[in-house]
Amino acid sequence: MSNISIRKVRKTYDKNEVVHGVDLEVAAGEFVVLLGPSGCGKSTLLRMVAGLEAITSGEIAIGNKIVNKLEPRERGCAMVFQNYALYPHMSVAENIGYALKIARVPKVERNEKIRSVAETLNIADFLDRKPAQLSGGQRQRVAMGRAMIREPKIFLYDEPLSNLDAKLRVAMRLEIRKLHQRLGTTTLFVTHDQVEAMTLADRIVVMNKGIIEQVGTPLEIYSRPASAYVAGFIGSPSLNMIKGVLNPETATITLNDGQALQYDLKRWPNLHAGEIIAGFRAEAVSLCNSSKSLTLNPQFIEELGVSRQLHCELAGEQIIVTSQSDHDVKAGIPLHVTIEPGQIQLFNAQTGVRLETEVYDVDASVTQIRKAS
Ligand SMILES: Nc1ncnc2c1ncn2[C@@H]1O[C@H](COP(=O)(O)OP(=O)(O)O)[C@@H](O)[C@H]1O
Ligand SMILES: [Mg+2]
Repeated sequence: MSNISIRKVRKTYDKNEVVHGVDLEVAAGEFVVLLGPSGCGKSTLLRMVAGLEAITSGEIAIGNKIVNKLEPRERGCAMVFQNYALYPHMSVAENIGYALKIARVPKVERNEKIRSVAETLNIADFLDRKPAQLSGGQRQRVAMGRAMIREPKIFLYDEPLSNLDAKLRVAMRLEIRKLHQRLGTTTLFVTHDQVEAMTLADRIVVMNKGIIEQVGTPLEIYSRPASAYVAGFIGSPSLNMIKGVLNPETATITLNDGQALQYDLKRWPNLHAGEIIAGFRAEAVSLCNSSKSLTLNPQFIEELGVSRQLHCELAGEQIIVTSQSDHDVKAGIPLHVTIEPGQIQLFNAQTGVRLETEVYDVDASVTQIRKAS
Protein backbone atom coordinates (compact mmCIF):
# COMPACT_ATOMS: atom_id res chain seq x y z
CA MET A 1 0.00 0.00 0.00
CA SER A 2 1.40 3.37 -1.01
CA ASN A 3 0.06 6.87 -1.28
CA ILE A 4 0.28 8.73 -4.59
CA SER A 5 1.01 12.45 -4.93
CA ILE A 6 0.43 14.15 -8.25
CA ARG A 7 1.77 17.73 -8.18
CA LYS A 8 1.27 20.32 -10.92
CA VAL A 9 1.53 17.64 -13.56
CA ARG A 10 1.31 18.73 -17.18
CA LYS A 11 1.43 16.74 -20.40
CA THR A 12 2.04 18.10 -23.86
CA TYR A 13 1.88 16.11 -27.10
CA ASP A 14 3.46 18.01 -30.04
CA LYS A 15 2.98 21.45 -28.44
CA ASN A 16 -0.61 20.53 -27.60
CA GLU A 17 -1.17 20.51 -23.82
CA VAL A 18 -3.72 17.87 -22.81
CA VAL A 19 -3.19 17.79 -19.00
CA HIS A 20 -3.05 21.28 -17.51
CA GLY A 21 -1.30 21.15 -14.16
CA VAL A 22 -3.16 18.53 -12.14
CA ASP A 23 -2.81 18.23 -8.35
CA LEU A 24 -4.14 15.13 -6.61
CA GLU A 25 -3.36 13.30 -3.37
CA VAL A 26 -4.41 9.65 -3.09
CA ALA A 27 -4.10 8.21 0.41
CA ALA A 28 -2.59 4.75 1.00
CA GLY A 29 -5.33 2.16 0.60
CA GLU A 30 -7.76 4.55 -1.03
CA PHE A 31 -9.89 3.68 -4.08
CA VAL A 32 -9.99 6.77 -6.31
CA VAL A 33 -11.87 6.92 -9.61
CA LEU A 34 -10.93 9.31 -12.43
CA LEU A 35 -14.19 10.12 -14.20
CA GLY A 36 -14.78 12.16 -17.34
CA PRO A 37 -15.80 11.97 -20.99
CA SER A 38 -13.59 10.51 -23.69
CA GLY A 39 -10.52 12.64 -24.46
CA CYS A 40 -10.38 14.55 -21.14
CA GLY A 41 -6.97 13.12 -20.21
CA LYS A 42 -7.81 10.26 -17.82
CA SER A 43 -5.67 7.63 -19.52
CA THR A 44 -2.81 10.07 -19.99
CA LEU A 45 -2.79 10.84 -16.26
CA LEU A 46 -2.94 7.15 -15.34
CA ARG A 47 -0.17 6.28 -17.78
CA MET A 48 2.02 9.01 -16.32
CA VAL A 49 1.59 7.42 -12.87
CA ALA A 50 2.46 4.02 -14.35
CA GLY A 51 5.50 5.46 -16.11
CA LEU A 52 4.22 4.57 -19.58
CA GLU A 53 4.14 8.26 -20.57
CA ALA A 54 6.77 10.86 -19.66
CA ILE A 55 5.63 13.85 -17.58
CA THR A 56 6.14 17.17 -19.37
CA SER A 57 6.39 19.05 -16.07
CA GLY A 58 5.45 18.55 -12.43
CA GLU A 59 6.05 15.69 -10.06
CA ILE A 60 4.61 12.30 -9.24
CA ALA A 61 5.49 10.54 -5.98
CA ILE A 62 4.56 7.01 -4.97
CA GLY A 63 5.00 6.18 -1.30
CA ASN A 64 6.57 9.65 -0.86
CA LYS A 65 9.32 8.84 -3.36
CA ILE A 66 9.46 10.89 -6.56
CA VAL A 67 9.17 8.50 -9.49
CA ASN A 68 9.49 10.91 -12.44
CA LYS A 69 12.63 9.17 -13.64
CA LEU A 70 11.81 5.60 -12.64
CA GLU A 71 11.02 2.89 -15.18
CA PRO A 72 7.48 1.43 -15.06
CA ARG A 73 8.68 -1.81 -13.46
CA GLU A 74 10.44 0.12 -10.68
CA ARG A 75 7.26 1.88 -9.58
CA GLY A 76 5.38 -1.02 -8.00
CA CYS A 77 2.22 -0.41 -10.04
CA ALA A 78 0.17 -3.06 -11.83
CA MET A 79 -2.09 -1.97 -14.64
CA VAL A 80 -5.26 -3.56 -16.03
CA PHE A 81 -6.55 -2.31 -19.39
CA GLN A 82 -9.78 -2.53 -21.33
CA ASN A 83 -8.05 -4.65 -23.95
CA TYR A 84 -6.36 -7.21 -21.76
CA ALA A 85 -4.19 -9.15 -24.16
CA LEU A 86 -3.72 -12.63 -22.70
CA TYR A 87 -1.22 -14.99 -24.31
CA PRO A 88 -3.54 -17.28 -26.30
CA HIS A 89 -1.19 -20.27 -26.40
CA MET A 90 -0.61 -20.28 -22.63
CA SER A 91 -2.91 -21.75 -20.01
CA VAL A 92 -4.59 -19.57 -17.40
CA ALA A 93 -1.95 -20.63 -14.85
CA GLU A 94 0.88 -19.76 -17.24
CA ASN A 95 -0.68 -16.42 -18.05
CA ILE A 96 -1.05 -15.51 -14.38
CA GLY A 97 2.42 -16.74 -13.47
CA TYR A 98 4.26 -15.25 -16.44
CA ALA A 99 5.72 -12.25 -14.60
CA LEU A 100 7.10 -14.53 -11.88
CA LYS A 101 8.62 -16.89 -14.46
CA ILE A 102 10.41 -13.96 -16.09
CA ALA A 103 11.62 -12.94 -12.62
CA ARG A 104 12.96 -16.52 -12.17
CA VAL A 105 10.81 -17.27 -9.14
CA PRO A 106 11.20 -21.02 -8.39
CA LYS A 107 8.39 -23.22 -9.71
CA VAL A 108 7.01 -24.41 -6.36
CA GLU A 109 6.71 -20.90 -5.01
CA ARG A 110 5.28 -19.73 -8.32
CA ASN A 111 2.57 -22.39 -8.32
CA GLU A 112 1.62 -21.56 -4.78
CA LYS A 113 1.15 -17.91 -5.67
CA ILE A 114 -0.77 -18.72 -8.85
CA ARG A 115 -3.17 -20.89 -6.83
CA SER A 116 -3.66 -18.27 -4.16
CA VAL A 117 -4.35 -15.51 -6.69
CA ALA A 118 -6.69 -17.76 -8.68
CA GLU A 119 -8.62 -18.61 -5.52
CA THR A 120 -8.97 -14.94 -4.65
CA LEU A 121 -10.42 -14.31 -8.12
CA ASN A 122 -12.57 -17.46 -8.24
CA ILE A 123 -10.82 -18.93 -11.25
CA ALA A 124 -8.95 -21.79 -9.55
CA ASP A 125 -11.03 -24.35 -11.48
CA PHE A 126 -9.89 -23.01 -14.84
CA LEU A 127 -6.13 -22.98 -14.38
CA ASP A 128 -5.50 -25.52 -17.15
CA ARG A 129 -7.73 -23.88 -19.74
CA LYS A 130 -6.61 -21.64 -22.58
CA PRO A 131 -8.03 -18.06 -22.77
CA ALA A 132 -10.21 -19.04 -25.75
CA GLN A 133 -12.07 -21.49 -23.50
CA LEU A 134 -13.10 -18.75 -21.05
CA SER A 135 -15.95 -16.25 -20.90
CA GLY A 136 -15.26 -12.53 -21.14
CA GLY A 137 -15.56 -12.09 -17.38
CA GLN A 138 -13.23 -15.00 -16.67
CA ARG A 139 -10.66 -13.60 -19.10
CA GLN A 140 -10.87 -10.24 -17.35
CA ARG A 141 -10.20 -12.01 -14.04
CA VAL A 142 -7.13 -13.69 -15.50
CA ALA A 143 -5.88 -10.26 -16.58
CA MET A 144 -6.43 -9.03 -13.04
CA GLY A 145 -4.66 -12.11 -11.67
CA ARG A 146 -1.68 -11.33 -13.84
CA ALA A 147 -1.55 -7.87 -12.26
CA MET A 148 -2.19 -9.12 -8.71
CA ILE A 149 0.48 -11.79 -8.63
CA ARG A 150 3.18 -9.16 -8.60
CA GLU A 151 1.75 -7.94 -5.27
CA PRO A 152 1.71 -4.35 -6.47
CA LYS A 153 1.68 -1.36 -4.15
CA ILE A 154 -0.80 0.25 -6.52
CA PHE A 155 -3.49 -0.98 -8.90
CA LEU A 156 -4.15 1.11 -11.98
CA TYR A 157 -7.27 0.24 -13.99
CA ASP A 158 -8.05 1.84 -17.34
CA GLU A 159 -11.72 1.20 -18.23
CA PRO A 160 -11.29 -2.52 -17.50
CA LEU A 161 -15.01 -3.29 -17.73
CA SER A 162 -15.92 -1.44 -20.93
CA ASN A 163 -15.79 -4.55 -23.13
CA LEU A 164 -18.08 -6.63 -20.93
CA ASP A 165 -21.84 -6.89 -21.33
CA ALA A 166 -24.02 -4.97 -18.87
CA LYS A 167 -24.74 -7.80 -16.44
CA LEU A 168 -21.16 -8.96 -16.24
CA ARG A 169 -19.99 -5.39 -15.78
CA VAL A 170 -22.11 -5.08 -12.65
CA ALA A 171 -20.84 -8.42 -11.32
CA MET A 172 -17.19 -7.56 -12.00
CA ARG A 173 -17.64 -4.14 -10.44
CA LEU A 174 -18.63 -5.84 -7.22
CA GLU A 175 -15.68 -8.24 -7.50
CA ILE A 176 -13.24 -5.37 -7.90
CA ARG A 177 -14.67 -3.63 -4.85
CA LYS A 178 -14.53 -6.87 -2.80
CA LEU A 179 -10.96 -7.43 -3.89
CA HIS A 180 -10.09 -3.96 -2.70
CA GLN A 181 -11.77 -4.61 0.62
CA ARG A 182 -9.71 -7.75 1.06
CA LEU A 183 -6.31 -6.53 -0.17
CA GLY A 184 -6.58 -2.81 0.61
CA THR A 185 -4.27 -1.93 -2.29
CA THR A 186 -4.24 1.74 -3.29
CA THR A 187 -6.25 1.97 -6.52
CA LEU A 188 -6.65 4.50 -9.33
CA PHE A 189 -9.50 3.51 -11.63
CA VAL A 190 -10.36 5.29 -14.88
CA THR A 191 -13.88 5.26 -16.32
CA HIS A 192 -16.31 7.42 -18.31
CA ASP A 193 -19.24 5.66 -16.62
CA GLN A 194 -20.62 7.65 -13.71
CA VAL A 195 -22.46 4.66 -12.21
CA GLU A 196 -19.20 2.74 -12.09
CA ALA A 197 -17.55 5.74 -10.42
CA MET A 198 -20.35 6.22 -7.88
CA THR A 199 -20.43 2.54 -6.89
CA LEU A 200 -16.68 1.88 -6.72
CA ALA A 201 -15.02 5.01 -5.42
CA ASP A 202 -14.00 6.18 -1.99
CA ARG A 203 -13.47 9.47 -3.81
CA ILE A 204 -14.26 10.54 -7.35
CA VAL A 205 -12.11 12.92 -9.39
CA VAL A 206 -14.24 14.55 -12.10
CA MET A 207 -12.07 15.64 -15.04
CA ASN A 208 -12.87 18.07 -17.83
CA LYS A 209 -10.51 18.84 -20.73
CA GLY A 210 -7.30 18.16 -18.84
CA ILE A 211 -8.24 19.77 -15.53
CA ILE A 212 -9.90 18.52 -12.34
CA GLU A 213 -13.40 19.98 -11.85
CA GLN A 214 -14.12 18.42 -8.47
CA VAL A 215 -12.78 15.85 -6.02
CA GLY A 216 -15.11 14.36 -3.44
CA THR A 217 -16.91 11.32 -2.09
CA PRO A 218 -19.69 10.03 -4.35
CA LEU A 219 -22.30 11.55 -2.05
CA GLU A 220 -20.58 14.95 -1.90
CA ILE A 221 -20.37 15.08 -5.67
CA TYR A 222 -23.96 13.95 -6.10
CA SER A 223 -25.48 16.32 -3.57
CA ARG A 224 -23.20 19.32 -4.07
CA PRO A 225 -21.75 19.32 -7.57
CA ALA A 226 -19.14 22.10 -7.86
CA SER A 227 -20.25 23.12 -11.34
CA ALA A 228 -22.96 22.67 -13.93
CA TYR A 229 -20.50 20.44 -15.81
CA VAL A 230 -20.22 18.03 -12.87
CA ALA A 231 -23.97 18.22 -12.23
CA GLY A 232 -24.65 17.27 -15.83
CA PHE A 233 -22.34 14.27 -15.58
CA ILE A 234 -23.39 12.70 -12.28
CA GLY A 235 -26.55 10.86 -11.37
CA SER A 236 -28.97 8.82 -13.41
CA PRO A 237 -30.76 10.88 -14.56
CA SER A 238 -28.32 13.77 -14.20
CA LEU A 239 -29.34 17.04 -12.52
CA ASN A 240 -32.06 18.96 -14.37
CA MET A 241 -30.73 22.40 -15.26
CA ILE A 242 -32.67 25.31 -16.61
CA LYS A 243 -31.78 28.94 -17.37
CA GLY A 244 -33.77 31.81 -15.91
CA VAL A 245 -33.61 35.30 -14.47
CA LEU A 246 -33.16 35.57 -10.73
CA ASN A 247 -35.11 38.14 -8.76
CA PRO A 248 -33.88 38.46 -5.15
CA GLU A 249 -36.88 40.56 -4.03
CA THR A 250 -39.28 37.68 -4.60
CA ALA A 251 -36.74 34.83 -4.27
CA THR A 252 -37.80 33.55 -7.66
CA ILE A 253 -36.23 32.51 -10.93
CA THR A 254 -38.34 33.46 -13.91
CA LEU A 255 -38.08 31.00 -16.79
CA ASN A 256 -38.35 31.73 -20.52
CA ASP A 257 -42.06 30.96 -20.58
CA GLY A 258 -42.91 33.30 -17.68
CA GLN A 259 -43.29 30.53 -15.06
CA ALA A 260 -41.19 30.92 -11.91
CA LEU A 261 -39.26 28.66 -9.53
CA GLN A 262 -38.94 29.61 -5.87
CA TYR A 263 -35.45 29.38 -4.32
CA ASP A 264 -34.43 29.41 -0.66
CA LEU A 265 -33.72 33.01 0.32
CA LYS A 266 -32.24 31.92 3.68
CA ARG A 267 -29.62 30.00 1.79
CA TRP A 268 -28.77 32.77 -0.69
CA PRO A 269 -29.67 36.07 1.01
CA ASN A 270 -27.33 38.29 -0.99
CA LEU A 271 -27.72 37.46 -4.67
CA HIS A 272 -28.00 40.10 -7.39
CA ALA A 273 -30.72 40.08 -10.01
CA GLY A 274 -29.65 38.49 -13.29
CA GLU A 275 -29.25 35.33 -15.37
CA ILE A 276 -28.76 32.11 -13.45
CA ILE A 277 -28.88 28.34 -13.93
CA ALA A 278 -31.26 26.54 -11.58
CA GLY A 279 -30.71 22.84 -10.96
CA PHE A 280 -32.94 20.24 -9.34
CA ARG A 281 -33.04 16.45 -9.13
CA ALA A 282 -35.70 14.42 -10.93
CA GLU A 283 -36.90 13.13 -7.56
CA ALA A 284 -37.20 16.66 -6.10
CA VAL A 285 -40.28 17.29 -8.23
CA SER A 286 -43.67 16.42 -6.69
CA LEU A 287 -46.84 16.02 -8.68
CA CYS A 288 -49.77 18.08 -7.34
CA ASN A 289 -53.09 19.61 -8.32
CA SER A 290 -52.54 23.15 -7.06
CA SER A 291 -53.25 26.00 -9.46
CA LYS A 292 -50.20 27.83 -8.08
CA SER A 293 -47.95 25.06 -9.29
CA LEU A 294 -45.59 24.78 -12.25
CA THR A 295 -46.86 23.25 -15.46
CA LEU A 296 -44.77 20.72 -17.37
CA ASN A 297 -45.45 18.97 -20.64
CA PRO A 298 -44.69 15.24 -20.43
CA GLN A 299 -43.47 13.95 -23.80
CA PHE A 300 -42.27 10.39 -23.12
CA ILE A 301 -42.83 8.14 -20.16
CA GLU A 302 -40.28 5.47 -19.28
CA GLU A 303 -41.66 2.73 -17.07
CA LEU A 304 -39.00 1.33 -14.75
CA GLY A 305 -41.31 -0.83 -12.65
CA VAL A 306 -40.47 0.68 -9.29
CA SER A 307 -41.00 4.20 -10.64
CA ARG A 308 -41.34 6.11 -13.86
CA GLN A 309 -39.18 8.67 -15.57
CA LEU A 310 -41.21 11.40 -17.19
CA HIS A 311 -39.35 13.23 -19.95
CA CYS A 312 -40.88 16.68 -19.92
CA GLU A 313 -40.56 20.04 -21.55
CA LEU A 314 -40.30 23.10 -19.30
CA ALA A 315 -39.77 26.58 -20.73
CA GLY A 316 -38.39 25.09 -23.93
CA GLU A 317 -35.86 22.83 -22.14
CA GLN A 318 -35.87 19.10 -21.50
CA ILE A 319 -36.09 17.86 -17.92
CA ILE A 320 -36.70 14.48 -16.30
CA VAL A 321 -39.09 13.93 -13.41
CA THR A 322 -39.40 10.76 -11.34
CA SER A 323 -42.92 9.69 -10.41
CA GLN A 324 -44.47 6.68 -8.73
CA SER A 325 -45.86 4.15 -11.16
CA ASP A 326 -49.43 4.48 -9.87
CA HIS A 327 -49.76 8.15 -10.84
CA ASP A 328 -52.08 8.85 -13.70
CA VAL A 329 -49.72 10.59 -16.13
CA LYS A 330 -50.05 10.62 -19.89
CA ALA A 331 -47.76 11.96 -22.58
CA GLY A 332 -49.22 15.11 -24.09
CA ILE A 333 -51.35 16.03 -21.05
CA PRO A 334 -49.92 18.95 -19.01
CA LEU A 335 -48.77 18.09 -15.51
CA HIS A 336 -48.84 20.24 -12.35
CA VAL A 337 -45.83 19.98 -10.07
CA THR A 338 -44.08 21.73 -7.21
CA ILE A 339 -40.39 21.86 -6.34
CA GLU A 340 -39.31 22.50 -2.75
CA PRO A 341 -37.25 25.76 -2.69
CA GLY A 342 -34.66 23.92 -0.56
CA GLN A 343 -34.12 21.45 -3.42
CA ILE A 344 -33.09 24.15 -5.90
CA GLN A 345 -29.35 24.48 -6.54
CA LEU A 346 -27.92 27.56 -8.25
CA PHE A 347 -25.07 27.91 -10.75
CA ASN A 348 -23.46 30.97 -12.31
CA ALA A 349 -24.93 31.33 -15.81
CA GLN A 350 -21.60 32.36 -17.37
CA THR A 351 -19.06 30.14 -15.61
CA GLY A 352 -21.30 27.27 -14.50
CA VAL A 353 -19.75 27.43 -11.01
CA ARG A 354 -22.02 26.46 -8.13
CA LEU A 355 -23.12 29.36 -5.90
CA GLU A 356 -22.14 28.64 -2.32
CA THR A 357 -22.73 30.82 0.71
CA GLU A 358 -21.54 30.91 4.28
CA VAL A 359 -25.16 30.79 5.31
CA TYR A 360 -25.67 27.46 3.62
CA ASP A 361 -22.90 25.89 5.68
CA VAL A 362 -24.16 27.41 8.93
CA ASP A 363 -27.64 26.06 8.23
CA ALA A 364 -26.33 22.64 7.42
CA SER A 365 -24.26 22.38 10.58
CA VAL A 366 -27.11 23.69 12.75
CA THR A 367 -29.40 21.01 11.33
CA GLN A 368 -26.80 18.38 12.06
CA ILE A 369 -26.36 19.57 15.64
CA ARG A 370 -30.13 19.51 16.14
CA LYS A 371 -30.32 15.97 14.80
CA ALA A 372 -27.47 14.85 17.03
CA SER A 373 -28.88 16.29 20.24
N1 LIG B 1 0.12 9.65 -28.08
C1 LIG B 1 -0.64 10.74 -28.26
N2 LIG B 1 -0.28 11.70 -29.15
C2 LIG B 1 -1.02 12.81 -29.32
N3 LIG B 1 -2.13 13.09 -28.64
C3 LIG B 1 -2.57 12.18 -27.73
C4 LIG B 1 -1.84 10.96 -27.50
N4 LIG B 1 -2.49 10.27 -26.54
C5 LIG B 1 -3.56 11.01 -26.21
N5 LIG B 1 -3.61 12.16 -26.92
C6 LIG B 1 -4.63 13.20 -26.80
O1 LIG B 1 -4.68 13.61 -25.45
C7 LIG B 1 -6.02 13.85 -25.05
C8 LIG B 1 -6.36 13.01 -23.83
O2 LIG B 1 -6.37 11.67 -24.20
P1 LIG B 1 -6.66 10.48 -23.18
O3 LIG B 1 -5.83 10.67 -21.98
O4 LIG B 1 -6.51 9.20 -23.92
O5 LIG B 1 -8.20 10.74 -22.84
P2 LIG B 1 -9.25 9.78 -22.08
O6 LIG B 1 -8.53 8.60 -21.54
O7 LIG B 1 -9.85 10.65 -21.02
O8 LIG B 1 -10.27 9.41 -23.11
C9 LIG B 1 -6.89 13.57 -26.25
O9 LIG B 1 -7.17 14.78 -26.89
C10 LIG B 1 -6.03 12.69 -27.10
O10 LIG B 1 -6.34 12.85 -28.45
MG1 LIG C 1 -8.82 6.57 -22.01
